[in-house]
Amino acid sequence: MGVEICVEGLTKSFGHQVIWQDVSLTLPAGEVSVMLGPSGTGKSVFLKTLVGLLRPDRGSVTIAGQDVTKLREHELYEVRKLFGVLFQDGALFGSMHLYDNIAFPLREHTRKPESEIRRIVLEKMDMVGLIGAEEKLPGEISGGMRKRAGLARALVLDPEIILFDEPDSGLDPVRVAYLNQLIVDLNAQIDATFLIVTHDIASARQVPDNIGLLFRRELVMFGPREQLLTSDEPVVRQFLNGRMQGPIGMAEEKDAAQVEQELAQLGEREGRNAKGESGPKAATDTGMTPRLLPSPGLARPPRWEAIAKREAKPEAKAEPEDEAKPAHKTDQREAAVTDI
Ligand SMILES: Nc1ncnc2c1ncn2[C@@H]1O[C@H](COP(=O)(O)OP(=O)(O)OP(=O)(O)O)[C@@H](O)[C@H]1O
Ligand SMILES: [Mg+2]
Repeated sequence: MGVEICVEGLTKSFGHQVIWQDVSLTLPAGEVSVMLGPSGTGKSVFLKTLVGLLRPDRGSVTIAGQDVTKLREHELYEVRKLFGVLFQDGALFGSMHLYDNIAFPLREHTRKPESEIRRIVLEKMDMVGLIGAEEKLPGEISGGMRKRAGLARALVLDPEIILFDEPDSGLDPVRVAYLNQLIVDLNAQIDATFLIVTHDIASARQVPDNIGLLFRRELVMFGPREQLLTSDEPVVRQFLNGRMQGPIGMAEEKDAAQVEQELAQLGEREGRNAKGESGPKAATDTGMTPRLLPSPGLARPPRWEAIAKREAKPEAKAEPEDEAKPAHKTDQREAAVTDI
């Protein structure tokens, strides 16, 4: 199960505003990938382009042998059955009870009897902790509950591809922990291909197989979790450590001299030079975070063994060609660092 998504040379603009350009990456079948990036860098636009809701200017999105960007509306309708999507705003129907909202994809895309629909809807509502709220309208519940209703709705068709746009925003920390466990468990059970947009760094560190980072209209990096977590790339380090010092500014416009000064000060503290190159003490904020494991009793996906071996190898970081599917673009990465 799980379907690979292959994105090549994707560029999207609205009018004169280029959102991102020449994005190429492969979301491996059955793996969990996370997309990070400062607010406004086009993460939500990227997800909408993958499902064919937005058309790119150039490039392709290949899923099960079909280029989504070229499909007509009725063909897209078929491909979308592969997807479970949680949009950033939840996108629930305001006049429908939660039960009907969650049942909607089943009624729209399947011919299942109501008794079967009821079983599935209640199972998914239970999974996200919404049992008892079936009769509520979206306007009558909290933002976190709406988010969880959107999650349940995204899962009812047992999708092969799951796209979650900030599933954790608006959730309290305990529920974020439950959500992360739910994602890992779901992946172990149904082996769907996941792409999750999040601003939650702790989740990004523990949950995925792969991490990508969008910044300044480019995909700065995309690759196996350990490659990003141990990266010396200043943008990646700044983002994964959630700090002010570095190329990313409040409005994305930082003066080059200021960045250099900040990195130099940081480097003095951590033993790195102004370009962020490692010194002897540089390991303070890079490094691996233990992976979140499936709940006891759930089988680990077969790929886990290979990943565990790879992560255990200290030299894995330095040799991306050693990785299973490196999608990381060195030239763009360098452009993002020097073009400041
Ligand atoms: N339909 C649209 N028409 C015109 N511009 C749009 C449209 N959708 C998004 N944009 C613009 O594209 C840019 C990227 O938006 P997007 O919502 O993808 O950012 P994001 O990375 O998801 O941000 P956040 O982390 O805040 O959710 C923004 O400047 C936004 O105004
Ligand atoms: Mg967004």
